[in-house]
Amino acid sequence: MSRKKISLIGGGQIGGVLAQLIAQRELADVVLFDIVPDLPQGKILDLAEASRIDNFDGKLSGTNNYEDISGSDIVIITAGLPRKPGMSRDDLLVTNANIMKSVAENVSKYAPNSIVIVISNPLDAMVTLFQKISGFPNHRVFGQAGVLDSSRFATFIAWELGVSVKDINALVLGGHGDTMVPLIRYANVNGIPVMEMLERKYNDKQKAEEVMTAMVERTKMAGGEVVKLLKTGSAFYSPASAAISMAESILKDEKRVLPVCAYLNGEFGVNGYYVGVPAILGSNGIEKIVELSLNETEQGLMNNSVKAVKELVEDMTRLGF
Ligand code: APR
Repeated sequence: MSRKKISLIGGGQIGGVLAQLIAQRELADVVLFDIVPDLPQGKILDLAEASRIDNFDGKLSGTNNYEDISGSDIVIITAGLPRKPGMSRDDLLVTNANIMKSVAENVSKYAPNSIVIVISNPLDAMVTLFQKISGFPNHRVFGQAGVLDSSRFATFIAWELGVSVKDINALVLGGHGDTMVPLIRYANVNGIPVMEMLERKYNDKQKAEEVMTAMVERTKMAGGEVVKLLKTGSAFYSPASAAISMAESILKDEKRVLPVCAYLNGEFGVNGYYVGVPAILGSNGIEKIVELSLNETEQGLMNNSVKAVKELVEDMTRLGF
């Protein structure tokens, strides 16, 4: 089997953790690209010097030259500016769209057969723009948001119930913004509905609902909560872990069912937009969108989230992208 190669476009906070996770798990060779001279080279040198301690082999390189990404199986994009406190993801639109445009042109030129996972925010718009400029087929261009949002939801549920987070299954659909849709009805602890466990805990249906509402709201605002604490920069451990779980499913053809910011062609009643939905990830990228039935309330929330994604994409189009 030939060695796999993952290129990381953006060598900042998330890019660095991505490189470390790939190296430690020996998933693939790593190319870390950034426009800042010496930054990716410095990070990779530091990481390589941990290889004896952590017992990993593999080719790691840092570069400011796009040619080095040629032959990549997967490209993960974090290039862009992170949110500052008080700034919404959407405020980042123009700056990051300009960056994404140049990234898309270069990835199409040097890694035309790669599968691309976008992390840069505002996510739904950045994936759309990458696909538009690269012309890559939709199954090879998608975004990371839902794995992280779902993990945040699962974490809060585990803390609330005092049980292992490993047993929590929680799914968040929709756009990667304040309108995202954590699915309460489908959240479970090894198959047991979370709502049932909450009702038993409090012996009070209304209290259980209030607790769940608070967790749903915290999930929607979780990115901002981290930004507020960090003061500079945004979340980086969790977005990196989320993207690696997607990359791993692709490289190992695991066919995991993960929430992915995927292009919809009529699924979930959406046509022509990238929205967070469950999808099967395998060696071809997105192999299938997994549909599920939503009740009236859930569908209403999903429609609202899709509306926000459409507005974001329309804003971007109006701004000339
Ligand atoms: N090409 C490549 N890299 C670029 C470019 C470009 N045109 N412009 C900026 N970068 C690099 C920066 O030099 C920086 O090293 O992107 C990197 C971004 O890193 P950080 O600022 O540390 O941001 P990070 O926390 O990694 O988040 C990256 O992911 O979650 C989103 O909102 C977040 O959009 C942000 C992105």
